[in-house]
Amino acid sequence: MKFFIDTANLAQIKEANDLGILDGVTTNPSLMAKEGIKGSEAVMQHYKTICEMVKGDISAEVISTDFAGIVEEGKKLAAIHKNIVVKVPMIKDGIKAIKWFTDNGIKTNCTLIFSAGQAILAAKAGATYVSPFIGRIDDSGWDGVELIAQIANIYSIQGFKTEILAASIRNALHIVKCAEAGADVCTCPLDSILGLLKHPLTDIGLAKFLEDAKKFA
Ligand code: G3P
Repeated sequence: MKFFIDTANLAQIKEANDLGILDGVTTNPSLMAKEGIKGSEAVMQHYKTICEMVKGDISAEVISTDFAGIVEEGKKLAAIHKNIVVKVPMIKDGIKAIKWFTDNGIKTNCTLIFSAGQAILAAKAGATYVSPFIGRIDDSGWDGVELIAQIANIYSIQGFKTEILAASIRNALHIVKCAEAGADVCTCPLDSILGLLKHPLTDIGLAKFLEDAKKFA
């Protein structure tokens, strides 16, 4: 399973990248706004900086919602760097645009996926990735990880090549459960990635080893 970081914060991207386990980055308009990035020039420059920091796919989201606008915006984003993946919302014109990008050799990430039917449609259009938002599904009283498993099963039966990119990850357990359920990628906040390091018995065990090491130092 690939690890992406879900942020536009350069310090956090650097910290995750320095671990040596990072395979890519996802962003969205909310994450860009959180960093205080304003204006299309600044946004494009920010994506360029991220592409230069991390070797791997970098999702850059369109904000247009009509076919022509999504295609025009996506072409500009894809021209920033070869690793840009155009992130397109799961709407009718979004599906049409994903098919256009597929036919024109541009990678896509179909975002805001909340059902298996949406994931089937995105795969039919040739999306490189689909992004089910598992944390938001959990928030609404359904089981986000179950959706990952359902999509993984359908894609396997049908032979779809689209990769399942589990998004809206809220904690380390989500990452483990998504790995079990067959996600190809997990895009996570830095805290959730670092959460994988933690176990109290590791801390207790290390303290004991270091204490005992003093006896022969
Ligand atoms: O990148 C999209 C997704 O990961 C959003 O997560 O926490 O806002 O539901 P969240």
